[in-house]
Amino acid sequence: MNAPERATERRALDPVLQQAIDGLSQPQKRLPAALFYDDAGTELFQRISALPEYYLTRVEHALLDARSDALAALLAPTSARLSMVELGSGDGSKTALIAGALLRRSVGLSYFPIDTAQLALQQLATRFARELAAVRVQPVHGDYFDHWPVLPGDHAQAALMLGSNLGNYSTSEAIALLSAVRARMRAGDRLVLGLDLMKDPQVILDAYDDTAGVTAQFNLNLLTRLNRELGMNFDLARFRHYPCYSPLDGTARSFLVSSVRQVVHSTVLDRSLAFAEGETIYTEQSQKYDRAMIEQLATGSGFAVVGELTDARRWYALSVWRA
Ligand code: AVJ
Repeated sequence: MNAPERATERRALDPVLQQAIDGLSQPQKRLPAALFYDDAGTELFQRISALPEYYLTRVEHALLDARSDALAALLAPTSARLSMVELGSGDGSKTALIAGALLRRSVGLSYFPIDTAQLALQQLATRFARELAAVRVQPVHGDYFDHWPVLPGDHAQAALMLGSNLGNYSTSEAIALLSAVRARMRAGDRLVLGLDLMKDPQVILDAYDDTAGVTAQFNLNLLTRLNRELGMNFDLARFRHYPCYSPLDGTARSFLVSSVRQVVHSTVLDRSLAFAEGETIYTEQSQKYDRAMIEQLATGSGFAVVGELTDARRWYALSVWRA
């Protein structure tokens, strides 16, 4: 069978949908966190960021606002040219603060924001064209490593992963991801991670259990997306958002709980999926870190920690690493 024939027979499924199908076939059903960010999910996450309980975005933003010059000095100590690659840029509202500080240091800045959310990348491009026109922006739509930009030889590189996005990965997944970032860097290049830190467990739990119910909507939107893209018939009224946090390992987890025994069908897959009453789908992990974990991640992936910016309460850290 030649390639064009195959293409007409069965269009390749979006990798994130394939992961979703695989995850729902496990004994403990699970969905990949990347599935959250369709257009509706991107908008819901932006609403979460403005919730009183969801401190992460606000604290990180305030930290960047107050300390962007110190961060820029750590990122570009000498070099006149810097290529900044961002894994999961979102709409770039926080990175704009760093870019502004780098421009004040007269750094010639190229910016490669990578994200699967098309909507967020459009908002980013508009923002930079309006506010930071001196930055050369080349948005990359897709998965982190499929599209890693080829950088000019004379540019120092800084990679960014803000927003505690790393927290969606388990420790072993995080080390694999960070090692893959390291493999695309040269010695001396920098990595900045925005990391949510361990703190009062109630504060953390509340961040994933807001009283307005926006986080519940965000979680349930996964089912809306599967209904649309896999022709499924999930009844959202029959699933509940269930967040929890364990101070023992610093892991917040979210689930969707089936409130009844039920069968869901996919017309696209021509397959049924059974749920027992109370059965869960594990939808997200949001890791919280302490100093020892940060050190362990850095050394485990070929980096050294060279700086840390935190707020007065030590709720959140911008950790700066050197390859
Ligand atoms: C964007 C992955 C950092 O885990 O805190 C917010 C996503 N999930 N509320 C997080 C999220 C539920 C968020 N990250």
